[in-house]
Amino acid sequence: MDQIIVQGGAELRGEIPIAGAKNACLTLMPATLLTDEPLTLTNAPRLSDIRTMTALLGSLGAEVAALQDGRVLALSSHDLTSHRADYDIVRRMRASILVLGPLLARDGVAEVSLPGGCAIGARPVDLHLMALERMGAELDLRDGYVHARAPSGGLRGAVVEFPLVSVGATENALMAATLARGTTELRNAAREPEIVDLARCLRRMGARIEGEGGGTITIEGVDRLRGATHPVVTDRIELGTYMLAPAICGGEVTCLGGRIELLEAFCERLDAAGIHVEESPRGLTVARRNGRVSAIDVTTAPFPGFPTDLQAQIMALLCTAEGVSHLEETIFENRFMHAPELARMGARIEVHGGRATVTGVERLRGAPVMATDLRASVSLILAGLAAEGETIVRRVYHLDRGYEHVEEKLAAVGARIERTREGEAAHG
Ligand code: EPZ
Repeated sequence: MDQIIVQGGAELRGEIPIAGAKNACLTLMPATLLTDEPLTLTNAPRLSDIRTMTALLGSLGAEVAALQDGRVLALSSHDLTSHRADYDIVRRMRASILVLGPLLARDGVAEVSLPGGCAIGARPVDLHLMALERMGAELDLRDGYVHARAPSGGLRGAVVEFPLVSVGATENALMAATLARGTTELRNAAREPEIVDLARCLRRMGARIEGEGGGTITIEGVDRLRGATHPVVTDRIELGTYMLAPAICGGEVTCLGGRIELLEAFCERLDAAGIHVEESPRGLTVARRNGRVSAIDVTTAPFPGFPTDLQAQIMALLCTAEGVSHLEETIFENRFMHAPELARMGARIEVHGGRATVTGVERLRGAPVMATDLRASVSLILAGLAAEGETIVRRVYHLDRGYEHVEEKLAAVGARIERTREGEAAHG
């Protein structure tokens, strides 16, 4: 397995290109199942999760060609050969559940393995199933699979009231509703930019959607959708992650393609911590306003609140802030696994349930640490950038799920970072 070795202390200067959003691409790709015409996605990120979704769609009979070094995905599901998403793929990536709604809407039948939990929580899919049942689907949960059937006339429009905000359930219901008979209203829908991006792509395909980005989305079902070409929206989580690099270790970095509108709550917290963010046509330029950052409080929430996917990363920043910071994780039940690893680097963090108290220290010290999930792994790299000495982050396969060539992007702005095989010393 690979590991990443970071020598801390370098200030960062330069530009980092931000890729298309993993969490947009993972819901845009299953949209190919809604039409037998070609769907082309540009600005696609090159990530292992994208390759897993490609394999899943391939197992259903869809064709996915990665063109231009993976930046363009040409998808076609003209002839499906299966409606079964096997456990061996679904267990590798929970977003596989997003083929359920499209398969039901297209052919009225789907057999999708229930995704297991993951490191950050139980991750149930009951809201996905509730929405589809409201639209007439008959669901039978057995042997670890959802066996789903639409009524003979197909799914029908319905009012779906989500008791809590769910990104994936909103996406599954939104895609299914585009081909349902009649009008669907999704209430308390997720408002993330990835949902807005999906709605824009579906509209390009001929869907009739209103209200995305607000709490209620209304969809008029149509008989069929056509192919389209759609650019994947910028990845706001990759953006926020790299904005924290100069914040943590000094210098000035411009994140190309970044826009404040993707991360308003996050940028407000950075400002409160003493980090200056400047927007220009090229992107977002980030630098500390003065020496040490100030302690702040952070509470995660559904968009437009502070993103849970940036909680681990901002905790790394606050480990060396002046003062005591309080973080509250309200979305997932177990998303502080980076805390004990940061503590190995000298961080002072107390975790009680969904709350963490971080008492800033002058400097962290490099240490061997273990990545546990996608966002925790990158927070350890951020901490390593500012730490004294060498940090070795193991199990970086978590990282490759959501970040393209993280060591190359950071080395290009002056970080002393490299990827080696586990057990090999640094070469540089
Ligand atoms: C999406 O996951 C993202 N993944 C996650 O990013 C992100 O953290 C999450 O949204 C929240 O923003 C993708 O888009 C592929 P949810 P999702 O349904 O859709 C509970 C990353 O690092 N819930 O909004 O699975 C659930 O347990 C990943 O890129 C139910 O109870 O998240 C959680 O507590 C991690 N029943 C809360 O809702 C359901 O049926 C929010 O989950 C569905 C969810």
